Amino acid sequence: MHNIQRITADLYYVGVSDRKLALFENVYPIPRGVSYNSYVLIDEKTVLMDTADSAVREQYFENVAAALDGRKLDYLVVNHMEPDHAALIADLLLRYPETTVVTSAKAAQMMEQFFGTKPAKLQTVKEGDKLTTGRHSLTFVMAPMVHWPEVMMTYDEVDNILFSADAFGTFGALNGNIFADEVNFDRDWIDDARRYYINIVGKYGVQVQNVLKKAATLPIEMICPLHGPIWREDLAYFIGKHDTWSSYRPEEEGVLIIYGSIYGHTASAAEKMATVLAQHGVKGIAMYDASHTDVSQLLAECFRYSHLVLASSTYNAGIFTPIENLLHDLKAHSWQNRTVALIENGTWAAQSGKAMRTLLEEMKNITILGEDLSLKSAMKESQMEDLEFLANLIVANLHQ
Ligand code: FEO
Repeated sequence: MHNIQRITADLYYVGVSDRKLALFENVYPIPRGVSYNSYVLIDEKTVLMDTADSAVREQYFENVAAALDGRKLDYLVVNHMEPDHAALIADLLLRYPETTVVTSAKAAQMMEQFFGTKPAKLQTVKEGDKLTTGRHSLTFVMAPMVHWPEVMMTYDEVDNILFSADAFGTFGALNGNIFADEVNFDRDWIDDARRYYINIVGKYGVQVQNVLKKAATLPIEMICPLHGPIWREDLAYFIGKHDTWSSYRPEEEGVLIIYGSIYGHTASAAEKMATVLAQHGVKGIAMYDASHTDVSQLLAECFRYSHLVLASSTYNAGIFTPIENLLHDLKAHSWQNRTVALIENGTWAAQSGKAMRTLLEEMKNITILGEDLSLKSAMKESQMEDLEFLANLIVANLHQ
């Protein structure tokens, strides 16, 4: 059975949600699923905006056919060539052989890489090119590295709709409510939106900032992303979040504590740090065991908070593996502009503090507060003064 929704008088949602996939991009857990969004514009010419993942093939083609309602498909606009949106292009062109594919030159090249041949009917476009479909006029906005180099966005100048590719997307399957104003986004969706943005596009803050500048010049009334809800109200809220994330500013002034602990002694010191911080009036402290939290969530939380306490056991004369993985991921995602305090532990040769410091010093504008709190197997009462001192440094820095 087809399952489409009308968005405007002549625009239909034909996307499909996937609740079976465990790992998005075979790496990010998505317990709430994901949606592969796609849109059909019915005008004098018909236009399909991107396709979908091959996992939802059957439902997707039923949806496209229902939206076209017997019309032929004149154009397929390909904004992004990653297979979660592009896997069905070759199949679509077999079903609709008269379709002209409209895309960037880089995307056309990727089509040949993925499918072995370019589409028979291909129209490559560049920044500012237009496609008139009757009542509607579509303008193409290049958005390289948001999230791949070939990415472009499509702007409907008549209805002021931005088809934003991966930008402004989120993890999470759609539950019938395809609009952000139909859900409690700030309560139920923002954590997945942050985790999606930081992990998928977080590295490319500069490029996202460039796109936000371009978007600021357009009178956008609706954003149709390739994942998650469509935005037609309070666009400034979500655009503001992306401005914060992409400029590497903390979303919240607060303390995040992440520990990697083999037998619990490092965890115990981290817990004590949380208690002392709370006693000093710090509210909203967040705390995670790195061994039991997916690194994609840890990464998103590191982007969220202004201050980070990292506590790690020594392991193989270095950092305990889950904390080391997190630090490498932070560097890979250009994490910067944060303040950090360190706790290390080692039974015969504590090395994790020095090794964490070395990795943090490779990142941009990271301030490390004071001396590392160094434990020998377990924290002692005599070290409370040192812990208090480090906590005080954090508190003083928080309130600057
Ligand atoms: Fe949703 Fe970069 O693909």
